[in-house]
Amino acid sequence: MTNWNAEAAQKIVQGKANLPGALLPVLHALQAEFGYINPDFVPEIAKALNLSRADVHGVLSFYHDFRDKPPSERVIKICRAEACQAMGASKLEDHIKRSDVTLEPVYCLGNCACGPAVMIDDKTYGRVTPEKLEELLS
Ligand code: FES
Repeated sequence: MTNWNAEAAQKIVQGKANLPGALLPVLHALQAEFGYINPDFVPEIAKALNLSRADVHGVLSFYHDFRDKPPSERVIKICRAEACQAMGASKLEDHIKRSDVTLEPVYCLGNCACGPAVMIDDKTYGRVTPEKLEELLS
C-alpha cells in the first residue's frame, strides 16, 4: 500500500476508464493501491468516467468495503452472518465503533459454532464478548 497520490490515482482511473462498468474496478484498484479512496478525488473519478459525483458517492456509500480514510493498523472483522448476529455480534460492533480501529464487515468466518466470531489482524476468535474484545485489543 502506498500513500495517496493524485497523479498515481489518475493513472489508475485512466487505465480502467474504458472498461464496461468501470466504476467498481476503478474503486477497487484505488483501494488496493492506497488502502482507501480519498473523498477529495471523487470529482476526478466522476469526470473521467462520465458520471455524476452523486453516482460515485452512491456506490462508495453502498459498499461498506470502501474506506474513505487510510486504515488504522489494527483491522477487526466482526462476522455479520446470521449465526453470529444471533449470538450478539452487533453488540460488539457498537462497542468497537468507539475505539480507534478499522472495522470491516465480514459474512462468516467459518467459526459459526463459536459465535460471535471476530478476526483481529488475520486471527479468528470465538465467543467474543465486549470485555474479551477489549482484552484482545490491549
Ligand atoms: S456465521 Fe459467523 S462465523 Fe459463520
